[in-house]
Amino acid sequence: LKESIKLGIFGLGTVGKGVVEQLRKNGALISQRLGKELQITKAVTANPTKDRGIDLSDIQISSDPKDILDDPEIDIVLELIGGVTDAKSIVLEALQKGKSVVTANKALLAECTEEIFNMAYQSKGLFGFEASVAGCIPVIREIKSSYSGEKIEEISGIINGTANYILTSMIEDKADFQVALKAAQDKGYAEADPAFDIEGTDTAHKLIILMDLAFNGLFDLKELYVEGITKITPLDIEIAEQFGYTIKLLGKAVNTDKGFEGRVHPTLVKTSNMLASVRGAFNAVAIKGNFMGPTLSYGAGAGAYPTASAVMGDVIEISRNLLQEAGQLVPPLASMRDQLSKKKILPMSEVTTEYYLRFSVLDEVGVMSKITTLLGENDIGIRSMLQKGEAHSPKDPIHVVIFTHKAIEKNILKALAKIDSLQFVAEPTNLIRIDTE
Ligand code: HSE
Repeated sequence: LKESIKLGIFGLGTVGKGVVEQLRKNGALISQRLGKELQITKAVTANPTKDRGIDLSDIQISSDPKDILDDPEIDIVLELIGGVTDAKSIVLEALQKGKSVVTANKALLAECTEEIFNMAYQSKGLFGFEASVAGCIPVIREIKSSYSGEKIEEISGIINGTANYILTSMIEDKADFQVALKAAQDKGYAEADPAFDIEGTDTAHKLIILMDLAFNGLFDLKELYVEGITKITPLDIEIAEQFGYTIKLLGKAVNTDKGFEGRVHPTLVKTSNMLASVRGAFNAVAIKGNFMGPTLSYGAGAGAYPTASAVMGDVIEISRNLLQEAGQLVPPLASMRDQLSKKKILPMSEVTTEYYLRFSVLDEVGVMSKITTLLGENDIGIRSMLQKGEAHSPKDPIHVVIFTHKAIEKNILKALAKIDSLQFVAEPTNLIRIDTE
């Protein structure tokens, strides 16, 4: 029987260092729970001699992937370098060699789903990726284990800490977008390329992983509708608040009669909805199942320690399996491999929801009636409306805001195309979808 479980880490950045620190601090506790010791014996990083401000003296550090991949003593490989190309070869080779792998890499799993999971299904090694979605919230374990008897109907998630941090700062502190982004970067929440956070890409990566797990499918990332938070203005925030809403970047997946909805966009969420109170870099994932009803899981979605903790949870679970020689008790992607099929996402034009429309128009006679006529002609009902601002000269635009009843997106787009081409429209209309929960 093994005396200890040996780990090799790729990457000593934010998360990698967090894992080392957690093992230093909680190692004794972990050994008590596991019955064996966990040891990080090797690390591979691009810059092995860099001072990282923590004690790494008992870890053999190099820049050669073979040092870990060819070491028969290493049981579990931790891929914590991020990015797709190098991470992919590391994960594939480790699994192919029968090693177990733990990764936090959502981009890799979302972009190379079939390749990675085909290998994970075939490998003698086990595969953990809890840290890839929503930091320390065990949402992947929930879907794979706790909810495995459920038909999952809907998932709504705040799953990007950086975007939520920025929106919270803009709403609560009236902070400037760029200042809030810089603060999120300084706290270690943001991606290497922060466009991934603010343009919705990171949320999309995570949503695709949840959809694959929840709906027994292999979904195509390219079919997701993805819109980030860069068009949200302080004015939208103020008007939303006035009508009892806050603005969140939601990843939403719904199993509808028409097909699977999958979409990422800023969303008006009622302040009474629990998702509205998820602040700062925190994440929350609401899941509805046909027997369990609605659930909500909440926790830190980004940052070194919460992400490291999710990695550690996987490492310990895999170690237990290895020590018991239990094999793959739970399939890597929740269903049996032959039951996983490619599934389509409904085009965004087919989605039905409510809309917030902010028109920037000149304050002229007949403007309101033209807008409402065009909405009516496209089968769009109005729930409430507001005129905001005062024109100090005839060329100053004012804002007309309309909250619609449920409408199909293609009709909204048809109406907006006509309205935005009218002479009195000063700027393209700002559209924000409303969560109807
Ligand atoms: N950039 C990510 C976020 C890190 O802000 O949520 C965690 O995946």
